[in-house]
Amino acid sequence: MQEISKGKIVGVNGNMLTVEFDEHVIQNEVAYAILGETRLKSEVIRIRGKRADLQVFEDAQGLKEGDMVEFTSELLSVELGPGLLTMVFDGLQNPLNDLAEQHGFFLKRGVYLPPLDYAKIWEFTPISKVGDKVRAGDWMGHVPEGIFKHYIMAPFNLHGEWEVVEIRPAGGCNSRETIARLKNSRGDERRVTMTQNWPVKVPIPCYRRKLLSDETMSMQLRIIDTFFPVAVGGTFCTPGPFGAGKTVLQHTMSRNAEADIVIVAACGERAGEVVEILREFPHLPDPRTGKTLIDRSIIVCNTSSMPVAAREASVYTAVTLAEYYRQMGLNCLLLADSTSRWAQALREMSGRLEEIPGDEAFPAYLESRIASFYERAGLVELNSGERGSVTIGGAVSPAGGNFEEPVTQATLKMVGAFLGLSRERSDARRYPAIQPLDSWSHYKSLVNAKELKIARNVLRRGSEVSQMMKVVGEEGTHIDDFELYLKSEFLDYVYLQQNTFDEVDQGCSPERQRYMFGKIVNILETKFRFNNKDVARRFFLELRQICIDWNYSPFKSPKFEELEAKIDAKVKELHHA
Ligand SMILES: Nc1ncnc2c1ncn2[C@@H]1O[C@H](COP(=O)(O)OP(=O)(O)OP(=O)(O)O)[C@@H](O)[C@H]1O
Ligand SMILES: [Mg+2]
Repeated sequence: MQEISKGKIVGVNGNMLTVEFDEHVIQNEVAYAILGETRLKSEVIRIRGKRADLQVFEDAQGLKEGDMVEFTSELLSVELGPGLLTMVFDGLQNPLNDLAEQHGFFLKRGVYLPPLDYAKIWEFTPISKVGDKVRAGDWMGHVPEGIFKHYIMAPFNLHGEWEVVEIRPAGGCNSRETIARLKNSRGDERRVTMTQNWPVKVPIPCYRRKLLSDETMSMQLRIIDTFFPVAVGGTFCTPGPFGAGKTVLQHTMSRNAEADIVIVAACGERAGEVVEILREFPHLPDPRTGKTLIDRSIIVCNTSSMPVAAREASVYTAVTLAEYYRQMGLNCLLLADSTSRWAQALREMSGRLEEIPGDEAFPAYLESRIASFYERAGLVELNSGERGSVTIGGAVSPAGGNFEEPVTQATLKMVGAFLGLSRERSDARRYPAIQPLDSWSHYKSLVNAKELKIARNVLRRGSEVSQMMKVVGEEGTHIDDFELYLKSEFLDYVYLQQNTFDEVDQGCSPERQRYMFGKIVNILETKFRFNNKDVARRFFLELRQICIDWNYSPFKSPKFEELEAKIDAKVKELHHA
């Protein structure tokens, strides 16, 4: 075995250590700074000659010049295997589920817990047979994990083809027992268990190709699926000012998205918020399965009270977990809240490294880091021909809600959809507060393009009339323009806005959206004969209320049909034949 490299601290700057080492050290390898009885996990982030800069993932207080550092020659990795679902991890994959509330859900420094329960027995069913040839990522067997078949895969770091020389028969075993033995043509042997490690900063490469996705991943949110859709394997961002509803929106998505697995990366949220997630999330009902949402979720969280380095690690941990389940042919949705706090972690570390700062003191490589994160999304064809996907959505919280800042701008260059939340809309309590005029998406909508164009046109022109009315007043506005304005408000209230706290309205199925949208567009296209503006206003107010009630009734229920008839009758009343 290789001699473990050692080093000595020659400089301490907050969480950043400069270490002089004697042997060999590699970029991004894990090291432990020794503080008495405690070993503090760190990562090598820069090497210059015989000196390495390390970021400590914990409070580095007490470390001083002359203290020892042990290198591990291993990259920062996560452990992958059955049992990841339902878990709540911190950025270093310490499980937080069982930590008593009195500990504030956070670990004492220097304490690292195993991410998985190795004693648990899993019912293994083999797929491979002795004599089969396998490559990295091939499905060799499976165990049930909740409602999923969790595939046990040939290690992702295998090179070339290996022969199965032994495979475990069906039956229960724990995740550390041998599932199979492999041999390659050179005679090397590998033992396969249910778990394997993978370095978080390296994308899992075991697939044939990335596919261009044209399938919409419904979030069951009308403004998104219809107007600014997200594709399966796509990327999107939800920037918004402080308190505009980014987190509530992500929660709604995690509950309603048509994804198999949801991974939530809560990085740098306020401590109180994380505790809230930990308390609430496990009990949220899952509309897709009738069970709880946590059964098909993993949460990776850090708070702003934890050192920045752990925050930086958490998004990589989360995306690696998503890629792992993608390898099983599943659609995974990764929601990161918020990537701004992750970027701030980069900035802070870059500052300590005394790198030349770029825009707003962010490091020059900010853009490439953000890019390499979103690039890990995608719909892939696995080597078996099956498909799996990772869809990534990032909340961005720019200071002052200014979208011109570097993190938002770098993100916009990468993502396929931009769902910008606005202060104006959240102040008016028009939720979700996505601004319909500035947002965009390159992906395919659930509804047909022609109807969509009509609706967009009404929104745009209605907004123009509204601006004009602020100058000339209602009296100075022509009745036709006024009607247009009322129609755009109508569309906003009954379609764009959606009540996340109403049991029915919180999730609007694709089928229901198509059905509803057709009807709404019909109304937008109808030329009404209003005698005066008061009549027009009253008409649309009444129609709006019926439509909102309609939104609150289960699809195709008697109540739904009844209200639909009421809407039709109402429209006919004033329809200009
Ligand atoms: N869809 C919604 N329906 C009703 N109220 C909402 C909705 N979204 C947000 N709110 C209200 O706005 C508040 C702030 O929302 P949220 O925490 O999601 O904002 P945020 O953008 O994540 O804020 P921060 O920038 O602090 O992270 C919520 O506590 C809630 O009162
Ligand atoms: Mg938030």
